[in-house]
Amino acid sequence: MEQNSAIILAAGAGKRMKSSKPKVLCEVLLKPMLGWVLTSCEQAGIPHVCVVTGHGREQVEAYLDGKYETAVQQEQKGTGHAVLCAETFLKQHLDGDVVVLCGDAPFMDGQTIQRAHEYHQQQGNAVTVISANLEQPFGYGRIIRDNGQVTGIVEQKDATEEQKQITEVNSGTYWFKAADLLQVLTEIKPNNAQGEYYLTDAVELLLQQGKKAGAYQAEDANVILGANDRKTLYRLNTIAREKILEQHMENGVEFVCTDGVVIGPDVVIGMETQILPGTILKGKTTIGTQCVIGPNSLVKDTTVGDRCVLNATQAYDSIIHEDVTIGPFVQIRPNCEIHHKAHIGDFVEVKNSTIGAGTAVAHLTYVGDSDVGSNVNFGCGVVTVNYDGVNKHRTTIEDDAFIGCNTNLVAPVRVGKGAYTAAGSTITKDVPDGALGIERAQQTIKEGFATRKLKGRKKKA
Ligand code: UD1
Ligand code: CA
Repeated sequence: MEQNSAIILAAGAGKRMKSSKPKVLCEVLLKPMLGWVLTSCEQAGIPHVCVVTGHGREQVEAYLDGKYETAVQQEQKGTGHAVLCAETFLKQHLDGDVVVLCGDAPFMDGQTIQRAHEYHQQQGNAVTVISANLEQPFGYGRIIRDNGQVTGIVEQKDATEEQKQITEVNSGTYWFKAADLLQVLTEIKPNNAQGEYYLTDAVELLLQQGKKAGAYQAEDANVILGANDRKTLYRLNTIAREKILEQHMENGVEFVCTDGVVIGPDVVIGMETQILPGTILKGKTTIGTQCVIGPNSLVKDTTVGDRCVLNATQAYDSIIHEDVTIGPFVQIRPNCEIHHKAHIGDFVEVKNSTIGAGTAVAHLTYVGDSDVGSNVNFGCGVVTVNYDGVNKHRTTIEDDAFIGCNTNLVAPVRVGKGAYTAAGSTITKDVPDGALGIERAQQTIKEGFATRKLKGRKKKA
Protein backbone atom coordinates (compact mmCIF):
# COMPACT_ATOMS: atom_id res chain seq x y z
CA MET A 1 0.00 0.00 0.00
CA GLU A 2 3.04 2.28 0.48
CA GLN A 3 2.76 4.00 -2.91
CA ASN A 4 -1.04 4.11 -2.88
CA SER A 5 -3.16 7.12 -2.20
CA ALA A 6 -6.73 8.28 -1.66
CA ILE A 7 -8.68 11.28 -2.85
CA ILE A 8 -11.83 12.08 -0.88
CA LEU A 9 -14.39 14.28 -2.61
CA ALA A 10 -15.81 16.69 -0.06
CA ALA A 11 -16.49 19.95 -1.87
CA GLY A 12 -20.24 19.66 -2.37
CA ALA A 13 -22.72 21.90 -0.57
CA GLY A 14 -25.39 19.34 0.18
CA LYS A 15 -28.26 21.81 -0.14
CA ARG A 16 -30.83 19.14 0.58
CA MET A 17 -29.35 18.68 4.07
CA LYS A 18 -30.50 22.22 5.02
CA SER A 19 -27.52 22.74 7.26
CA SER A 20 -25.08 25.58 7.78
CA LYS A 21 -22.40 22.89 7.83
CA PRO A 22 -21.06 21.39 4.59
CA LYS A 23 -22.68 18.02 4.04
CA VAL A 24 -19.56 15.96 4.75
CA LEU A 25 -19.49 17.34 8.31
CA CYS A 26 -23.04 16.19 9.01
CA GLU A 27 -22.80 13.42 11.56
CA VAL A 28 -23.61 9.74 11.78
CA LEU A 29 -23.45 8.54 15.39
CA LEU A 30 -22.02 11.90 16.41
CA LYS A 31 -19.05 11.58 14.05
CA PRO A 32 -18.87 13.63 10.82
CA MET A 33 -19.35 11.50 7.70
CA LEU A 34 -15.96 12.69 6.43
CA GLY A 35 -14.42 11.34 9.64
CA TRP A 36 -15.83 7.88 8.89
CA VAL A 37 -14.25 7.94 5.43
CA LEU A 38 -10.90 9.09 6.84
CA THR A 39 -10.97 6.26 9.40
CA SER A 40 -11.70 3.75 6.61
CA CYS A 41 -8.67 5.00 4.63
CA GLU A 42 -6.58 4.59 7.76
CA GLN A 43 -7.94 1.06 8.32
CA ALA A 44 -7.20 0.19 4.70
CA GLY A 45 -3.60 1.29 5.35
CA ILE A 46 -3.52 4.03 2.72
CA PRO A 47 -0.61 6.29 3.57
CA HIS A 48 -1.39 9.38 1.47
CA VAL A 49 -4.79 11.05 1.66
CA CYS A 50 -6.01 14.23 0.00
CA VAL A 51 -9.39 15.82 0.75
CA VAL A 52 -10.97 18.01 -1.94
CA THR A 53 -12.70 20.91 -0.21
CA GLY A 54 -14.95 23.65 -1.54
CA HIS A 55 -18.20 24.46 0.18
CA GLY A 56 -17.61 25.31 3.82
CA ARG A 57 -13.91 24.91 3.21
CA GLU A 58 -12.87 26.66 6.43
CA GLN A 59 -15.06 24.35 8.47
CA VAL A 60 -13.76 21.24 6.72
CA GLU A 61 -10.15 22.37 7.13
CA ALA A 62 -10.74 23.16 10.79
CA TYR A 63 -12.03 19.62 11.21
CA LEU A 64 -9.04 18.14 9.37
CA ASP A 65 -6.77 20.11 11.72
CA GLY A 66 -3.80 20.04 9.34
CA LYS A 67 -3.55 16.25 9.50
CA TYR A 68 -4.38 15.68 5.83
CA GLU A 69 -3.47 17.21 2.53
CA THR A 70 -6.19 19.22 0.88
CA ALA A 71 -6.98 20.50 -2.61
CA VAL A 72 -9.48 23.24 -3.37
CA GLN A 73 -12.34 23.08 -5.83
CA GLN A 74 -13.60 26.66 -6.07
CA GLU A 75 -16.69 25.89 -8.08
CA GLN A 76 -18.53 22.58 -7.94
CA LYS A 77 -18.53 21.42 -11.53
CA GLY A 78 -18.86 17.71 -10.83
CA THR A 79 -16.97 14.76 -9.42
CA GLY A 80 -14.57 14.52 -12.40
CA HIS A 81 -13.66 18.17 -12.01
CA ALA A 82 -13.22 17.66 -8.25
CA VAL A 83 -10.58 14.96 -8.84
CA LEU A 84 -8.85 17.19 -11.38
CA CYS A 85 -8.51 19.82 -8.66
CA ALA A 86 -6.32 17.30 -6.81
CA GLU A 87 -4.03 16.96 -9.85
CA THR A 88 -0.91 18.10 -8.00
CA PHE A 89 -1.47 15.45 -5.33
CA LEU A 90 -2.22 12.80 -7.97
CA LYS A 91 1.02 13.59 -9.80
CA GLN A 92 2.99 12.98 -6.61
CA HIS A 93 1.67 9.41 -6.42
CA LEU A 94 1.67 8.33 -10.05
CA ASP A 95 3.44 5.02 -9.43
CA GLY A 96 0.66 3.56 -7.34
CA ASP A 97 -3.06 3.06 -7.31
CA VAL A 98 -5.43 5.75 -6.11
CA VAL A 99 -8.83 5.21 -4.53
CA VAL A 100 -11.39 7.95 -5.02
CA LEU A 101 -14.07 8.14 -2.33
CA CYS A 102 -17.11 10.30 -1.55
CA GLY A 103 -17.09 12.20 1.71
CA ASP A 104 -20.84 11.65 2.04
CA ALA A 105 -20.77 7.83 2.07
CA PRO A 106 -19.60 6.95 5.59
CA PHE A 107 -20.02 3.17 5.52
CA MET A 108 -17.40 2.42 2.88
CA ASP A 109 -15.13 0.43 5.20
CA GLY A 110 -11.44 -0.38 5.23
CA GLN A 111 -11.95 -4.06 4.49
CA THR A 112 -14.08 -3.43 1.40
CA ILE A 113 -11.54 -0.90 0.15
CA GLN A 114 -8.74 -3.43 0.65
CA ARG A 115 -10.60 -6.32 -0.97
CA ALA A 116 -11.53 -4.16 -3.93
CA HIS A 117 -7.87 -3.27 -4.28
CA GLU A 118 -6.82 -6.92 -4.31
CA TYR A 119 -9.40 -7.55 -7.02
CA HIS A 120 -8.23 -4.48 -8.92
CA GLN A 121 -4.66 -5.79 -8.94
CA GLN A 122 -5.56 -9.40 -9.76
CA GLN A 123 -7.60 -8.24 -12.74
CA GLY A 124 -4.96 -5.77 -13.88
CA ASN A 125 -7.68 -3.14 -14.18
CA ALA A 126 -7.13 0.51 -14.93
CA VAL A 127 -10.30 1.20 -12.96
CA THR A 128 -12.34 -0.91 -10.54
CA VAL A 129 -15.67 0.48 -9.39
CA ILE A 130 -17.04 -0.71 -6.07
CA SER A 131 -20.67 -1.58 -6.76
CA ALA A 132 -23.61 -3.15 -4.94
CA ASN A 133 -27.04 -4.45 -5.72
CA LEU A 134 -29.78 -2.32 -4.23
CA GLU A 135 -33.48 -3.07 -4.17
CA GLN A 136 -34.07 0.65 -4.54
CA PRO A 137 -31.36 1.91 -6.87
CA PHE A 138 -33.02 5.29 -7.45
CA GLY A 139 -30.60 8.19 -7.44
CA TYR A 140 -27.41 6.18 -7.87
CA GLY A 141 -25.38 5.75 -11.03
CA ARG A 142 -26.08 2.38 -12.69
CA ILE A 143 -23.38 -0.06 -13.77
CA ILE A 144 -23.79 -0.91 -17.44
CA ARG A 145 -22.57 -4.34 -18.48
CA ASP A 146 -22.29 -6.09 -21.80
CA ASN A 147 -22.02 -9.87 -21.51
CA GLY A 148 -21.02 -9.38 -17.91
CA GLN A 149 -18.23 -6.97 -18.80
CA VAL A 150 -18.50 -3.45 -17.34
CA THR A 151 -18.85 -0.93 -20.16
CA GLY A 152 -19.78 2.25 -18.32
CA ILE A 153 -21.78 4.02 -15.59
CA VAL A 154 -24.89 6.02 -16.30
CA GLU A 155 -26.40 8.55 -13.86
CA GLN A 156 -30.04 8.45 -12.79
CA LYS A 157 -30.78 11.66 -14.67
CA ASP A 158 -29.19 10.38 -17.89
CA ALA A 159 -30.52 6.83 -17.76
CA THR A 160 -33.02 5.37 -20.21
CA GLU A 161 -36.09 3.63 -18.81
CA GLU A 162 -34.37 0.32 -19.44
CA GLN A 163 -31.18 1.39 -17.65
CA LYS A 164 -33.23 2.59 -14.68
CA GLN A 165 -34.23 -1.04 -14.09
CA ILE A 166 -30.60 -1.99 -13.38
CA THR A 167 -30.07 -2.64 -9.66
CA GLU A 168 -26.27 -2.77 -9.66
CA VAL A 169 -25.20 0.72 -8.65
CA ASN A 170 -22.04 2.77 -8.34
CA SER A 171 -20.87 3.31 -4.75
CA GLY A 172 -18.86 6.38 -5.77
CA THR A 173 -15.67 4.61 -4.67
CA TYR A 174 -13.19 3.49 -7.33
CA TRP A 175 -9.63 2.20 -7.52
CA PHE A 176 -7.62 3.60 -10.43
CA LYS A 177 -4.11 3.16 -11.65
CA ALA A 178 -3.06 6.71 -10.80
CA ALA A 179 -1.29 7.32 -14.10
CA ASP A 180 -4.28 6.08 -16.10
CA LEU A 181 -6.67 8.29 -14.18
CA LEU A 182 -4.51 11.34 -14.79
CA GLN A 183 -4.48 10.61 -18.49
CA VAL A 184 -8.25 10.61 -18.93
CA LEU A 185 -9.23 13.29 -16.39
CA THR A 186 -8.84 16.17 -18.82
CA GLU A 187 -10.83 14.33 -21.47
CA ILE A 188 -14.03 14.25 -19.42
CA LYS A 189 -16.66 16.52 -21.00
CA PRO A 190 -19.83 17.88 -19.36
CA ASN A 191 -22.13 16.38 -21.99
CA ASN A 192 -24.95 15.20 -19.76
CA ALA A 193 -28.26 16.16 -18.19
CA GLN A 194 -26.58 18.03 -15.33
CA GLY A 195 -23.88 19.74 -17.41
CA GLU A 196 -21.27 18.40 -14.97
CA TYR A 197 -17.88 16.76 -15.35
CA TYR A 198 -18.69 13.21 -14.25
CA LEU A 199 -15.86 11.11 -12.84
CA THR A 200 -17.93 8.11 -13.91
CA ASP A 201 -17.10 8.93 -17.55
CA ALA A 202 -13.51 7.89 -16.82
CA VAL A 203 -14.64 4.25 -17.10
CA GLU A 204 -15.73 4.59 -20.72
CA LEU A 205 -12.74 6.73 -21.63
CA LEU A 206 -10.31 4.16 -20.24
CA LEU A 207 -12.09 1.37 -22.10
CA GLN A 208 -11.81 3.39 -25.32
CA GLN A 209 -8.05 3.48 -24.77
CA GLY A 210 -8.01 -0.29 -24.58
CA LYS A 211 -7.57 -0.37 -20.81
CA LYS A 212 -9.41 -2.76 -18.50
CA ALA A 213 -12.36 -1.77 -16.33
CA GLY A 214 -14.23 -3.86 -13.80
CA ALA A 215 -16.54 -3.75 -10.83
CA TYR A 216 -16.03 -5.21 -7.37
CA GLN A 217 -19.37 -6.04 -5.78
CA ALA A 218 -19.48 -5.26 -2.08
CA GLU A 219 -20.63 -8.18 0.07
CA ASP A 220 -22.74 -5.93 2.26
CA ALA A 221 -24.79 -3.52 0.14
CA ASN A 222 -25.08 -1.12 3.09
CA VAL A 223 -21.44 -0.07 2.69
CA ILE A 224 -22.35 2.07 -0.27
CA LEU A 225 -25.16 4.04 1.36
CA GLY A 226 -24.80 7.80 1.29
CA ALA A 227 -26.79 10.64 2.77
CA ASN A 228 -28.11 13.60 0.81
CA ASP A 229 -30.81 14.82 3.21
CA ARG A 230 -31.80 14.58 6.88
CA LYS A 231 -34.04 11.58 6.33
CA THR A 232 -31.33 9.46 4.76
CA LEU A 233 -28.88 10.71 7.37
CA TYR A 234 -31.25 9.50 10.07
CA ARG A 235 -31.55 6.19 8.28
CA LEU A 236 -27.76 5.82 8.27
CA ASN A 237 -27.75 6.61 12.00
CA THR A 238 -30.32 3.89 12.63
CA ILE A 239 -28.41 1.30 10.61
CA ALA A 240 -25.06 2.18 12.21
CA ARG A 241 -26.48 2.31 15.72
CA GLU A 242 -27.94 -1.20 15.54
CA LYS A 243 -24.79 -2.62 14.01
CA ILE A 244 -22.50 -1.09 16.63
CA LEU A 245 -24.72 -2.15 19.53
CA GLU A 246 -24.65 -5.70 18.19
CA GLN A 247 -20.84 -5.65 17.93
CA HIS A 248 -20.61 -4.61 21.58
CA MET A 249 -23.01 -7.39 22.58
CA GLU A 250 -20.82 -9.85 20.70
CA ASN A 251 -17.91 -8.55 22.80
CA GLY A 252 -19.78 -9.24 26.03
CA VAL A 253 -21.21 -5.82 26.79
CA GLU A 254 -24.57 -5.93 28.55
CA PHE A 255 -27.59 -3.82 27.62
CA VAL A 256 -30.73 -4.20 29.67
CA CYS A 257 -32.56 -1.96 27.25
CA THR A 258 -31.01 0.16 24.50
CA ASP A 259 -33.45 3.08 24.76
CA GLY A 260 -31.59 6.32 24.25
CA VAL A 261 -28.24 4.55 23.97
CA VAL A 262 -25.96 5.97 21.27
CA ILE A 263 -22.42 4.67 20.90
CA GLY A 264 -20.00 6.23 18.43
CA PRO A 265 -17.99 4.08 16.00
CA ASP A 266 -14.64 4.61 17.75
CA VAL A 267 -15.76 3.69 21.27
CA VAL A 268 -14.23 0.62 22.92
CA ILE A 269 -16.03 -1.14 25.79
CA GLY A 270 -14.75 -4.01 27.93
CA MET A 271 -16.47 -7.28 28.67
CA GLU A 272 -19.23 -7.46 31.32
CA THR A 273 -19.72 -3.73 31.35
CA GLN A 274 -23.34 -2.75 31.65
CA ILE A 275 -24.64 0.18 29.63
CA LEU A 276 -27.90 1.55 31.02
CA PRO A 277 -30.55 3.55 29.14
CA GLY A 278 -29.95 7.14 28.13
CA THR A 279 -26.21 6.73 27.74
CA ILE A 280 -24.25 8.45 24.97
CA LEU A 281 -20.64 7.46 24.41
CA LYS A 282 -18.81 9.46 21.78
CA GLY A 283 -15.42 10.27 20.29
CA LYS A 284 -12.41 8.19 21.27
CA THR A 285 -13.88 6.90 24.51
CA THR A 286 -12.64 3.68 26.08
CA ILE A 287 -14.51 1.96 28.90
CA GLY A 288 -12.97 -0.88 30.92
CA THR A 289 -14.51 -4.15 32.02
CA GLN A 290 -17.25 -4.64 34.61
CA CYS A 291 -18.28 -0.99 34.66
CA VAL A 292 -21.80 0.33 35.02
CA ILE A 293 -22.34 3.35 32.76
CA GLY A 294 -25.64 5.17 33.06
CA PRO A 295 -28.44 5.64 33.34
CA ASN A 296 -28.31 8.98 31.55
CA SER A 297 -24.58 9.46 31.17
CA LEU A 298 -22.61 11.20 28.44
CA VAL A 299 -18.94 10.36 27.97
CA LYS A 300 -16.75 11.96 25.33
CA ASP A 301 -13.07 11.32 24.51
CA THR A 302 -12.50 9.82 27.94
CA THR A 303 -10.76 6.70 29.20
CA VAL A 304 -12.55 4.88 32.00
CA GLY A 305 -10.81 2.05 33.89
CA ASP A 306 -12.24 -1.28 35.00
CA ARG A 307 -15.07 -1.58 37.55
CA CYS A 308 -16.09 2.08 37.46
CA VAL A 309 -19.58 3.43 37.99
CA LEU A 310 -20.73 6.53 36.10
CA ASN A 311 -24.28 7.23 37.18
CA ALA A 312 -26.00 10.23 35.56
CA THR A 313 -22.58 11.66 34.82
CA GLN A 314 -21.10 13.73 32.03
CA ALA A 315 -17.37 13.34 31.41
CA TYR A 316 -15.28 15.05 28.74
CA ASP A 317 -11.65 14.60 27.61
CA SER A 318 -10.48 13.03 30.85
CA ILE A 319 -8.93 9.92 32.35
CA ILE A 320 -10.74 7.97 35.03
CA HIS A 321 -8.79 5.12 36.60
CA GLU A 322 -10.17 1.81 37.90
CA ASP A 323 -12.71 1.36 40.70
CA VAL A 324 -13.89 4.96 40.64
CA THR A 325 -17.53 5.70 41.46
CA ILE A 326 -19.10 8.86 40.11
CA GLY A 327 -22.56 10.34 40.36
CA PRO A 328 -25.35 10.93 40.24
CA PHE A 329 -25.47 14.41 38.66
CA VAL A 330 -21.76 14.97 38.21
CA GLN A 331 -19.84 16.80 35.52
CA ILE A 332 -16.20 15.94 34.82
CA ARG A 333 -14.99 18.72 32.53
CA PRO A 334 -11.96 18.46 30.24
CA ASN A 335 -8.49 17.59 31.40
CA CYS A 336 -9.18 15.72 34.61
CA GLU A 337 -7.41 12.66 35.90
CA ILE A 338 -9.23 10.76 38.61
CA HIS A 339 -7.19 8.05 40.27
CA HIS A 340 -8.33 4.65 41.44
CA LYS A 341 -10.94 4.18 44.12
CA ALA A 342 -11.81 7.88 44.19
CA HIS A 343 -15.44 8.69 44.84
CA ILE A 344 -17.18 11.67 43.30
CA GLY A 345 -20.69 12.05 44.66
CA ASP A 346 -23.81 13.99 43.77
CA PHE A 347 -23.78 17.52 42.37
CA VAL A 348 -20.02 17.80 41.99
CA GLU A 349 -18.16 19.51 39.17
CA VAL A 350 -14.48 18.79 38.54
CA LYS A 351 -12.47 20.71 35.94
CA ASN A 352 -8.82 20.58 34.85
CA SER A 353 -7.87 18.79 38.04
CA THR A 354 -6.22 15.70 39.41
CA ILE A 355 -8.01 13.76 42.12
CA GLY A 356 -5.80 11.31 44.01
CA ALA A 357 -6.50 7.67 44.78
CA GLY A 358 -9.11 6.99 47.43
CA THR A 359 -10.14 10.63 47.68
CA ALA A 360 -13.81 11.37 48.32
CA VAL A 361 -15.60 14.42 46.99
CA ALA A 362 -19.00 13.33 48.07
CA HIS A 363 -21.46 16.19 47.63
CA LEU A 364 -22.17 19.66 46.26
CA THR A 365 -18.60 20.65 45.49
CA TYR A 366 -16.64 22.48 42.80
CA VAL A 367 -13.03 21.42 42.21
CA GLY A 368 -11.39 23.47 39.46
CA ASP A 369 -7.71 23.84 38.46
CA SER A 370 -6.67 21.73 41.44
CA ASP A 371 -4.13 19.07 42.30
CA VAL A 372 -5.67 16.90 44.97
CA GLY A 373 -3.65 14.14 46.63
CA SER A 374 -4.78 10.71 47.77
CA ASN A 375 -7.20 9.87 50.59
CA VAL A 376 -8.38 13.44 50.89
CA ASN A 377 -11.87 13.96 52.27
CA PHE A 378 -14.01 16.83 51.07
CA GLY A 379 -16.92 17.84 53.25
CA CYS A 380 -20.15 18.97 51.67
CA GLY A 381 -20.18 22.24 49.75
CA VAL A 382 -16.48 22.90 49.20
CA VAL A 383 -15.51 25.43 46.51
CA THR A 384 -12.11 26.00 45.00
CA VAL A 385 -12.11 29.69 44.16
CA ASN A 386 -9.97 29.45 41.06
CA TYR A 387 -10.89 32.58 39.14
CA ASP A 388 -10.26 36.17 40.21
CA GLY A 389 -12.08 37.65 37.24
CA VAL A 390 -8.87 37.92 35.23
CA ASN A 391 -6.74 34.86 35.81
CA LYS A 392 -7.20 31.26 36.86
CA HIS A 393 -5.12 29.96 39.76
CA ARG A 394 -4.41 26.49 41.08
CA THR A 395 -5.25 24.90 44.40
CA THR A 396 -3.06 22.18 45.88
CA ILE A 397 -4.37 19.75 48.46
CA GLU A 398 -1.87 17.23 49.78
CA ASP A 399 -2.51 13.60 50.75
CA ASP A 400 -4.77 12.79 53.73
CA ALA A 401 -6.05 16.37 54.08
CA PHE A 402 -9.54 16.96 55.40
CA ILE A 403 -11.48 19.85 53.91
CA GLY A 404 -14.30 20.92 56.21
CA CYS A 405 -17.83 21.49 54.94
CA ASN A 406 -18.48 24.73 53.12
CA THR A 407 -14.80 25.68 52.84
CA ASN A 408 -13.74 28.20 50.20
CA LEU A 409 -10.17 27.64 49.02
CA VAL A 410 -9.05 30.91 47.43
CA ALA A 411 -6.36 30.01 44.90
CA PRO A 412 -3.44 30.07 44.65
CA VAL A 413 -3.43 28.19 47.92
CA ARG A 414 -2.06 24.96 49.38
CA VAL A 415 -3.50 22.71 52.07
CA GLY A 416 -0.66 20.63 53.49
CA LYS A 417 -0.39 16.89 54.03
CA GLY A 418 -2.88 15.68 56.60
CA ALA A 419 -4.02 19.26 57.31
CA TYR A 420 -7.58 20.26 58.22
CA THR A 421 -9.67 23.24 57.25
CA ALA A 422 -12.49 24.15 59.61
CA ALA A 423 -16.04 24.10 58.28
CA GLY A 424 -17.16 27.39 56.81
CA SER A 425 -13.65 28.79 56.45
CA THR A 426 -12.52 30.94 53.56
CA ILE A 427 -8.91 29.86 53.28
CA THR A 428 -6.66 32.43 51.62
CA LYS A 429 -3.30 31.42 53.10
CA ASP A 430 -1.47 28.12 52.85
CA VAL A 431 -2.21 25.63 55.63
CA PRO A 432 0.99 23.80 56.72
CA ASP A 433 1.23 20.01 56.91
CA GLY A 434 -0.71 18.61 59.84
CA ALA A 435 -2.21 22.00 60.84
CA LEU A 436 -5.77 23.28 61.10
CA GLY A 437 -6.75 26.29 59.03
CA ILE A 438 -9.68 28.14 60.54
CA GLU A 439 -10.97 31.44 59.27
CA ARG A 440 -14.26 32.54 60.76
CA ALA A 441 -15.55 34.73 63.61
CA GLN A 442 -15.65 33.34 67.15
CA GLN A 443 -19.13 32.22 68.08
CA THR A 444 -20.84 34.36 70.75
CA ILE A 445 -23.78 33.21 72.88
CA LYS A 446 -26.58 35.53 73.96
CA GLU A 447 -28.33 33.79 76.84
CA GLY A 448 -32.15 33.90 76.80
CA PHE A 449 -32.33 35.86 73.52
CA ALA A 450 -34.45 33.34 71.67
CA THR A 451 -36.81 32.72 74.58
CA ARG A 452 -37.62 36.42 74.80
CA LYS A 453 -38.24 36.55 71.05
CA LEU A 454 -40.53 33.55 71.21
CA LYS A 455 -42.70 35.15 73.89
CA GLY A 456 -43.07 38.26 71.70
CA ARG A 457 -44.12 36.16 68.74
CA LYS A 458 -46.73 34.27 70.76
CA LYS A 459 -48.26 37.56 72.08
CA LYS A 460 -48.80 38.82 68.53
CA ALA A 461 -50.58 35.67 67.44
C1 UD1 B 1 -22.20 10.16 -7.35
C2 UD1 B 1 -21.92 9.34 -8.62
C3 UD1 B 1 -22.96 8.21 -8.72
C4 UD1 B 1 -22.89 7.36 -7.48
C5 UD1 B 1 -23.07 8.22 -6.21
C6 UD1 B 1 -22.80 7.39 -4.98
C7 UD1 B 1 -20.98 10.86 -10.27
C8 UD1 B 1 -21.25 11.63 -11.51
N1 UD1 B 1 -22.00 10.19 -9.77
O1 UD1 B 1 -23.48 10.75 -7.51
O2 UD1 B 1 -22.71 7.43 -9.85
O3 UD1 B 1 -23.89 6.36 -7.52
O4 UD1 B 1 -22.12 9.31 -6.21
O5 UD1 B 1 -23.09 8.09 -3.82
O6 UD1 B 1 -19.88 10.85 -9.80
N2 UD1 B 1 -18.39 16.55 -4.99
C9 UD1 B 1 -17.36 17.46 -5.07
N3 UD1 B 1 -17.36 18.35 -6.08
C10 UD1 B 1 -18.31 18.39 -7.03
C11 UD1 B 1 -19.37 17.45 -6.94
C12 UD1 B 1 -19.38 16.54 -5.91
O7 UD1 B 1 -16.46 17.46 -4.23
O8 UD1 B 1 -18.22 19.25 -7.92
C13 UD1 B 1 -18.38 15.57 -3.88
C14 UD1 B 1 -19.56 15.74 -2.94
O9 UD1 B 1 -19.21 16.57 -1.83
C15 UD1 B 1 -19.82 14.32 -2.48
C16 UD1 B 1 -19.31 13.46 -3.64
O10 UD1 B 1 -18.48 14.28 -4.41
O11 UD1 B 1 -19.10 14.00 -1.31
C17 UD1 B 1 -20.43 12.91 -4.48
O12 UD1 B 1 -21.14 13.99 -5.05
P1 UD1 B 1 -22.71 13.99 -5.21
O13 UD1 B 1 -23.12 15.26 -5.84
O14 UD1 B 1 -23.36 13.63 -3.93
O15 UD1 B 1 -22.88 12.82 -6.29
P2 UD1 B 1 -24.09 11.88 -6.52
O16 UD1 B 1 -25.13 12.59 -7.29
O17 UD1 B 1 -24.50 11.27 -5.23
CA1 CA C 1 -24.20 11.67 -3.01
